[in-house]
Amino acid sequence: MKHRYLVTGGAGFIGSNFVHFIDQTEPESLVLVFDKLTYAGNLDSLKGMGPQHQVVVGDICDEQLVAQALAQFKPDRLVHFAAESHVDRSIDGPKEFVKTNVLGTFTLLHQAKIYFEANKGDFRFLQVSTDEVYGSLGETGYFTEETPYQPNSPYSASKAGSDHLVRAWWHTYHFPVITTNCSNNYGPFQFPEKLIPVVILSALSGKPLPIYGDGQNIRDWLFVLDHCKGIHRALERGELGECYNIGGNNELTNLQVVHRICEILDLRRPKQKGSYKDQITFVKDRPGHDRRYAIDASKIKAKLGWQPEESFESGFLKTVDWYLEHEDWVKNILSGEYRLTRQGLGA
Ligand SMILES: NC(=O)c1ccc[n+]([C@@H]2O[C@H](COP(=O)([O-])OP(=O)(O)OC[C@H]3O[C@@H](n4cnc5c(N)ncnc54)[C@H](O)[C@@H]3O)[C@@H](O)[C@H]2O)c1
Repeated sequence: MKHRYLVTGGAGFIGSNFVHFIDQTEPESLVLVFDKLTYAGNLDSLKGMGPQHQVVVGDICDEQLVAQALAQFKPDRLVHFAAESHVDRSIDGPKEFVKTNVLGTFTLLHQAKIYFEANKGDFRFLQVSTDEVYGSLGETGYFTEETPYQPNSPYSASKAGSDHLVRAWWHTYHFPVITTNCSNNYGPFQFPEKLIPVVILSALSGKPLPIYGDGQNIRDWLFVLDHCKGIHRALERGELGECYNIGGNNELTNLQVVHRICEILDLRRPKQKGSYKDQITFVKDRPGHDRRYAIDASKIKAKLGWQPEESFESGFLKTVDWYLEHEDWVKNILSGEYRLTRQGLGA
């Protein structure tokens, strides 16, 4: 047995990609997914994983269930993806974000510390965080691990709160944690409320592609599998108590992202007349919309030897093709409670 991974939020976008990555690369390891199955959790995304892995449906705020999962599964790796993750939803309803992201992370830390103190061994807790905790950049500069936290949305503020708890558990209790702060991910299994899947699916169904503001907000885009590999590298080789920024060196404006997806769709599924770009419209900006995020990932490259393998060109092609080839996955989601909470598109 190599490792026993307890993966919170393992039925979500990045979590499910991580579970498949472990399933494929570490056949001797075991995974326990711990997921509340909110609107963003989808067991379909775990189809095909080996039968040796298990799923517990539960809330990370549920102390008893968390304690039970730890005691029974006995993980040596806890990878914490579970979160409310959509900025627009956090603007409309911040309470759930504070509950899951702050209180839920506290509950996990508290119970995992009790578990660790009873069992010791080579246990590691990896906090999956975001570059959004650093706030917004001007036209130049990059977020490093030393950049002060300046979260601007209820989502990023709640993630920042959870990161601070994780840091405190290391400094106060020497509880073995590592934090990764990653830029915007894209790839298979992303819930169709985030920019890239929404653009693909709205374009194909002839709907408008409403872009927030002037479409010039810049994000650094990373293919989800590269993120999973970065998390794995940090878990295996990272120093306890350290933070590692993970980024794709792929700064693009929202408009460039939408244009590129339309160009790929024009090739893969040409319209009878015109381009998918004709469906683009501009709508009122999201409140407090951060202008630019850009990651300096030189620490993880220098210290742990990680760097992204996928280019923006190859990653976007793979992603569009995945959505075109997985109509059933998409249909099952769309027939559920999917709805856009705001009118515009942004990341
Ligand atoms: N998506 C990105 O671009 C990105 C970038 C950097 C960091 N992150 C971070 O990575 C993590 C995963 O992001 P994602 O995009 O996969 O999110 P997601 O919304 O797709 O998935 C979140 C998962 O967490 C589960 N969950 C939510 N509340 C829960 C609770 N109280 N108890 C148990 N499970 C719960 C959901 O059911 C879902 O399966 C988050 O912590 C996010 O902040 C995401």
